[in-house]
Amino acid sequence: MADEPPLLPSSLIERSYELLVKAVVDYAIYMLDPQGRIMTWNSGAERIKGYEAWEVIGQHLEMFFPAEDRREGRAQRLIATALSEGRAQDEGWRVRKDGSRFWALTALDAIHDDTGRLIGLAKITRDMTERHDAQLRMDEVRAQLFQAQKMEALGQLTGGMAHDFNNLLTVIIGATELALRSDNPERIHALLDNIHTAGMRGRELTQHLLTFARRRNPEAQQIELEPVLKAASTLFGQALPKGIRLEAAIEPALHPVRVDPSQLEMALLNLIFNARDAMEQGGCIRLGAENRSLQGEWAELRGDFVLISVSDDGPGIAPEVQARIFEPFFTTKQFGKGTGLGLSQVYGFARNAGGTIRVESEPGNGTRMTLYLPAAS
Ligand SMILES: Nc1ncnc2c1ncn2[C@@H]1O[C@H](COP(=O)(O)OP(=O)(O)OP(=O)(O)O)[C@@H](O)[C@H]1O
Ligand SMILES: [Mg+2]
Repeated sequence: MADEPPLLPSSLIERSYELLVKAVVDYAIYMLDPQGRIMTWNSGAERIKGYEAWEVIGQHLEMFFPAEDRREGRAQRLIATALSEGRAQDEGWRVRKDGSRFWALTALDAIHDDTGRLIGLAKITRDMTERHDAQLRMDEVRAQLFQAQKMEALGQLTGGMAHDFNNLLTVIIGATELALRSDNPERIHALLDNIHTAGMRGRELTQHLLTFARRRNPEAQQIELEPVLKAASTLFGQALPKGIRLEAAIEPALHPVRVDPSQLEMALLNLIFNARDAMEQGGCIRLGAENRSLQGEWAELRGDFVLISVSDDGPGIAPEVQARIFEPFFTTKQFGKGTGLGLSQVYGFARNAGGTIRVESEPGNGTRMTLYLPAAS
């Protein structure tokens, strides 16, 4: 028979357990009475909050909360939740003894004795300041990256569009000259009509460009897709080289979705420019949008979705490349031609929206990239 480990007497277990909790330095672990007054204190609590046991025992939990949270009764609310639901969690700023703040992740559990009587609340706090700061820095970098990409895209768009503006101006100048030389009122009227159409076309272009440039702070909101997709297809279609057409097939009555419209435009632009780069010999890019109800047929997605796809008839993507295309900085383009950030941004956008992106491609048979965006209820 295998040797059973000797059982420790329960008093000894309790004692060693107490010592263990006291010795933990990475977590503040202590007990509160049901009113929220501090009953025990450990090394972690001392290290994180800067108080010694004698300074806090008997005081209310509220003492660690910043003034604005005290006014709102945040500590009391937390205790009430823990008492009614057995557990409460919170994340937010707390104040150390020296007045400095730290970002705390806390859990509060109601503790009952063997007979089920409430004896107090166990409180565990972790100092997450570093991680919180790192997160903020990441958000900032991401925002900068987004802005930088947008500026680059804007450069590409205006570059492509200068040529369209030139065409429009040629129409306007040519028609004006003819009209100035003519004394036939009907002909002048027809020429003015041409000038007007070209002018309106130019105004549409600048308006799309301005809306694209303007929206800055990413903010998810419920939007109707049709106008965004139509504006994007006009604007981006204008910026494509001569041999490449953009055809849009946008189903009517698309579900609304919750996204930041300017990020959606950037995602579309990234997909369309990838398709453009894949078709050096020219060809057709198809932008499609349709509603689809999913029951887990793909990527475990369930519910109502809008599928927005960008397809090309370029050379396709080899399987070993396909596995890596969403990685940041992965590019097969020449140095200076691609950063490899396009698809990683599109992927991030789709995941943030609660959806995903799917790639379907076979070498020699073109590529289809599809954004799956959940319908907003
Ligand atoms: N439609 C496509 N057809 C063929 N290959 C594609 C297509 N879309 C993406 N790829 C491949 O995926 C890689 C990564 O694309 P991604 O958009 O992330 O970066 P990039 O286009 O190389 O650079 P950037 O978008 O930053 O200018 C591309 O370099 C290319 O090899
Ligand atoms: Mg790209």
